[in-house]
Amino acid sequence: MALLQGGKLALASLLFLTPLIDIAMGQTFRRLGTCPTLGCVFPPDQIDFLAGQLFDIRLEVHAPTNGTEATNGVPDENFTFCIQKGNGVCVDVTRFFGVRDPSLEKWTFTYYEDLFARDAEQLTGVNVASKAYRAVTLHEPGSYRAILKYNGGAQTVANWVVRRPPARRTAKNVLFFIGDGMTQAMITAARLIGHKSINGKYQSLMQLDQMDALGLQMTHSIDSFITDSANSATALYTGKKSSVDALNVFADSSEDHFDDPKFETIAELFRRRTGGPIGIVSTAYIADATPGGLCAHTRSRDEYEAVVHEFLYNTSAISPTLDWPTGCRGADVIFGGGAEQFIPGSGSPNGTDFYKAFESEGYQVIYNNTQLKTVDNNKKTLGIFSTSNLAKWLDRNVYPDNLKGLKNSPTGDQGDAVDQPGLKDMTLKAIDILQARTRRDQGWFMMSEAASIDKMMHALDYDRALGELLELDDTVRASIAHLKKIGELENTLIVVTADHGHGFDVFGSADTQYLAAQTTDRRKRDAVGIYEGSGLSEYTVSPGSTPDNHTILFGAQGPHFPVQWTPRYTFAAGFGAVPDHRESYIGNAGGPRNPTTRGEDGYFGPRPEDRFEIHGTLPGSTSQGVHSLQDVPVYATGPGAASFRGVYNSVDIFFKIADALALGRTKD
Ligand SMILES: *[C@@H]1O[C@H](CO)[C@@H](O)[C@H](O)[C@H]1NC(C)=O
Ligand SMILES: *[C@@H]1O[C@H](CO)[C@@H](O)[C@H](O)[C@H]1NC(C)=O
Ligand SMILES: *[C@@H]1O[C@H](CO)[C@@H](O)[C@H](O)[C@H]1NC(C)=O
Ligand SMILES: *[C@@H]1O[C@H](CO)[C@@H](O)[C@H](O)[C@H]1NC(C)=O
Ligand SMILES: *[C@@H]1O[C@H](CO)[C@@H](O)[C@H](O)[C@H]1NC(C)=O
Ligand SMILES: *[C@@H]1O[C@H](CO)[C@@H](O)[C@H](O)[C@H]1NC(C)=O
Repeated sequence: MALLQGGKLALASLLFLTPLIDIAMGQTFRRLGTCPTLGCVFPPDQIDFLAGQLFDIRLEVHAPTNGTEATNGVPDENFTFCIQKGNGVCVDVTRFFGVRDPSLEKWTFTYYEDLFARDAEQLTGVNVASKAYRAVTLHEPGSYRAILKYNGGAQTVANWVVRRPPARRTAKNVLFFIGDGMTQAMITAARLIGHKSINGKYQSLMQLDQMDALGLQMTHSIDSFITDSANSATALYTGKKSSVDALNVFADSSEDHFDDPKFETIAELFRRRTGGPIGIVSTAYIADATPGGLCAHTRSRDEYEAVVHEFLYNTSAISPTLDWPTGCRGADVIFGGGAEQFIPGSGSPNGTDFYKAFESEGYQVIYNNTQLKTVDNNKKTLGIFSTSNLAKWLDRNVYPDNLKGLKNSPTGDQGDAVDQPGLKDMTLKAIDILQARTRRDQGWFMMSEAASIDKMMHALDYDRALGELLELDDTVRASIAHLKKIGELENTLIVVTADHGHGFDVFGSADTQYLAAQTTDRRKRDAVGIYEGSGLSEYTVSPGSTPDNHTILFGAQGPHFPVQWTPRYTFAAGFGAVPDHRESYIGNAGGPRNPTTRGEDGYFGPRPEDRFEIHGTLPGSTSQGVHSLQDVPVYATGPGAASFRGVYNSVDIFFKIADALALGRTKD
């Protein structure tokens, strides 16, 4: 599927816009992931709701015209649907919610039953009859059975649970950090290169090491065990698992990307329940899944125009089926990259000047770090600091020449975006704006994303990924200090987690000089030091310094960052899901890495300039590393933090945050 963004982009940055997902076909239930039978109920079985959370219902009855499930091809249009609370009677949906029966919709879709069918180009066709009930809600806690009856005696039952809200609110503010793609293995590696240890004992710790509570979340999606960032953002923000590429909707089988059944996000609920200000901060382009997911509702994360549109409006300017009664309705702070969606041109809503649209809704719009430092804290603020993703910490701080020549200025003037803020600058400013815009005890909600941990892990650029992770840690530390200074630390729940992992780990060190001096792949691999051969980290020691003056020199890029990024003995890391590529274990001083090149056969293979070859484990159509299965860590500090201890599902994070803010309501 096309994951490329519209607008003018430098080729180098184009590569790292989004993970390159080549074939998003599940191995099982290909007809429709959440619907193994011919009758489909959305929300599907096993879905939990916050009391009073808005959601759509979609029902589908499928009649395959051919293939292994072939029917007469006529879907039952006389299906019925009722809802049963506890052991009560099953009440027809229209009476249960007090809504009118919508008109019947009909469509046809096709799919491949498996890889053999795909190779033979043998499509299976399905005729569908459907109805959708929009923006309903359940207030009463407890269990429900939603029953679809079709085809004479067939029925599909969805068991739903409305969780009981807490008696009182424990947190006034929530600062929610997402280290995209961040695993414990990456945190361990970042600690190794960013913090000095003596005889195995660290002399300083990561901020993450010092949080009150640590938990683990299971990230898998509703219909596949590996998630993407849209799907996992949906889980974290709404308490509903969904499908790859989907933002805050369940994937139905219709073609329209905006008519899939929607449900309300934490940002929308916070806005609707408290009226308090919302902040969205990311080092990605701002229409990307993790920032966009706070407000957007679409089957496809690639609908960038609609995603930025939903930051501002809840109306139908993009598509009539996008209508949704709630919405972020103008998040108070939006900081990130992705000027393509604002500069008039093919990537902005209807090609309009979308900076102007924000200005006419009362926003101040800023384009660089200098402006960021001086803007009025009382006003809604849109800060877009480059096209595409923002520059990486390593390039901003160690190799600033890499920021030149990219023609990525957010104003569209074809200049270079050389004055970009980092995650810390953006987050601290966003706190000040949210704080200034909070009325009485509304509090505020902010999501701050270190997006390029993931983007650089996809590119197997481990140095840049760990630089981004250390920047996230530095941002959490600085945010805690800042909240303390302004007297809000005791009121603020801080949660730091990831949305999924990558199969990265460090297994030793590499003597880069020895590696470069060898002529065969076998000999080059002898440069890898394992066990006692791995030695100690040189990243925290300035070249030529003695242990005694190391602390003085540490100021160069630290503390909490490496003093040097290219020691002779580097860390040797590997990855569980890779394309064919070569490895030298030397960081890329010239800019983000591109590990593969497309060969004459159309498949991706190693770039010749790198060193010894590593055979890939991924399909040849894949140019980068991909996400992995592992549970990811959750760190929390502040009121409500204790509830984040233990092992739980990704969707539980939404409920824990919503409960800390008491967003559930047993009646309106
Ligand atoms: C649906 O019900 C109507 C009347 O209740 C009937 O005329 C029609 O044949 C039914 N359609 C199907 C496909 O069963
Ligand atoms: C099955 O039906 C679909 C849709 O009508 C059609 O495109 C496809 O060619 C059919 N498949 C076979 C194997 O005949
Ligand atoms: C986009 O175009 C559609 C159809 O031309 C129009 O209805 C809508 O108002 C436009 N939206 C914006 C944001 O200009
Ligand atoms: C959008 O929100 C406004 C309130 O801000 C509401 O009056 C309007 O009905 C909503 N639009 C839709 C399409 O529901
Ligand atoms: C920051 O942006 C403003 C407004 O576009 C511009 O006037 C100023 O020169 C920029 N500053 C830097 C350092 O790029
Ligand atoms: C620290 O090490 C540097 C070498 O990088 C050396 O030039 C300097 O004299 C040392 N400073 C002290 C205070 O010992």
